[in-house]
Amino acid sequence: MNTIEQLHALFPAESAVPADCQILAPLHQRTLLVNGQLKMWHGETRAVLSPVYTRQDNGELARVELGSIPVTGKEEADEALAAAVAAYDNGRGAWPTMSVAERIGCVEEFTRQILAKRREIVNLIMWEIGKSLPDSEKEFDRTIVYIKDTIDALKKLDNDNSRFQIVDGTIGQIRRSPLGITLCLGPYNYPMNETFTTLIPALIMGNVVLLKPPKFGTLLYYPMLEAFRSAFPAGVINTVYGKGSELVPYLMNSGKINVLALIGSSRVADQLKKAHPKSNRLRAVLGLDAKNAAIILPDADLDLAVKECIAGSLSFNGQRCTAIKMILVHQSIAEAFLRRFSEAVNALKVGMPWEKGVMVTPLPDQEKCRYLTECVEDAKAQGARVINEGGGSVAETLFHPAVVFPVKEGMKLYREEQFGPVIPVAPFEDIEDALDYVISSDYGQQVSLFGSNPHQIAELVDPLVNQVCRVNINCQCQRGPDVFPFAGRKDSAEGTLSVHDALRAFSIRSMVAAKETEASKKLLDAIVLSNESNFINTRFIL
Ligand code: G3H
Repeated sequence: MNTIEQLHALFPAESAVPADCQILAPLHQRTLLVNGQLKMWHGETRAVLSPVYTRQDNGELARVELGSIPVTGKEEADEALAAAVAAYDNGRGAWPTMSVAERIGCVEEFTRQILAKRREIVNLIMWEIGKSLPDSEKEFDRTIVYIKDTIDALKKLDNDNSRFQIVDGTIGQIRRSPLGITLCLGPYNYPMNETFTTLIPALIMGNVVLLKPPKFGTLLYYPMLEAFRSAFPAGVINTVYGKGSELVPYLMNSGKINVLALIGSSRVADQLKKAHPKSNRLRAVLGLDAKNAAIILPDADLDLAVKECIAGSLSFNGQRCTAIKMILVHQSIAEAFLRRFSEAVNALKVGMPWEKGVMVTPLPDQEKCRYLTECVEDAKAQGARVINEGGGSVAETLFHPAVVFPVKEGMKLYREEQFGPVIPVAPFEDIEDALDYVISSDYGQQVSLFGSNPHQIAELVDPLVNQVCRVNINCQCQRGPDVFPFAGRKDSAEGTLSVHDALRAFSIRSMVAAKETEASKKLLDAIVLSNESNFINTRFIL
């Protein structure tokens, strides 16, 4: 149980922060990466504040200032776009025409450089978004594995395409080619990993990128700028800072963006797609809203269901697109489930991100706490209650998780994606009501089913796979392993991401075709032997 005073007391004195986690000096970023140069920025800047507060000598709490970042405007966005357009050069640039093996070499060099900065980047993830230290480390390491797996997948893809096919008198060679200028926008909850799951496949397939780091999680890109600059040719990656709501539609409106890679809200994605003057020239790769439900059947193993629902709803304080954001429990076991679940919630360690075993950490800003409180109050006003003692208590950015029951249609928590540590629970009597919740949702990412009757599970899986893109049986919802397809229906996503699928999402199949004549064979043979084309060749990447 955490009262407001107890939560308040969890914020430490500066001297209590472990030495290896301390921010020794604020990081004041004054450089922008444009056209292969780290340009000095002399304009407006914004302070970067951590979700973490520390106790001052006078006993007052103050948010830790991590440094500051540039706030650039339309002029700098234009400059970044012009650099990208020049680097792509209508597909004639060094990068889009480079051999796959050379592009892989650049990505490997970049990876080597950022690996040397692991500690600094992990520390920034932890301080900027309040993610626990092990999860921040996991985010970095998972990203490195993702890059390595992407390289392996691309080698295989390219090697498979390193041959000619002859069909009905036509000789063809089919490869995957880049799409053009990609605007990459990542989310604050996985500021590195999710951004890189679009950035790396986009780059490695020969696209050029404009990268706009998320609002929370910008500074962690600062230590990577030199690696981006030196590992890739000029203009292949350019950064954009500043007000996203102004600059991103502005860039889209230029008509020069070929791919929008956004992990964010469906409302924003919708507006951005409409801002493009030639929608047919735009490919969108989108990871959007979700309201994944857990359905707990009467014969579920309750210990397992509680354990998975805790991880599913409260890992990184519920700030995962895949989080379980609604629990539908059969009314015959609702009381037992709620009792055990609430106990488990209140047993979680609340504290600072570097503390061993911590699960609940500060949220990115107080606005988030206000919104969550509003959701809880709205449910209470309509007849629900907070089941766990202390649930919903707030001190600065620490929000004690709240289990809210019974949540019904009409309450914010029933349909809105709360994206935070509030867990709505609703009872159901007839399984049709649980199915109807999923069917009538605007979102269609995943669902978790808890039960042990094979007949019932089989009966539920068949309709559910047509509503969502992943049905998890007796386990929480999640994206990984990253080689599995990550997709969503309705307002939850556009396109599929996985190591394998992302390479396809950021490229298009192009082919060279010729009639099967002696002259064609001679010509193609000469091109292959001369090694002058990176497209018409039969090289094998080891
Ligand atoms: O925020 C959405 C992430 O893709 C979720 O990934 O399920 O591995 O936490 P995760």
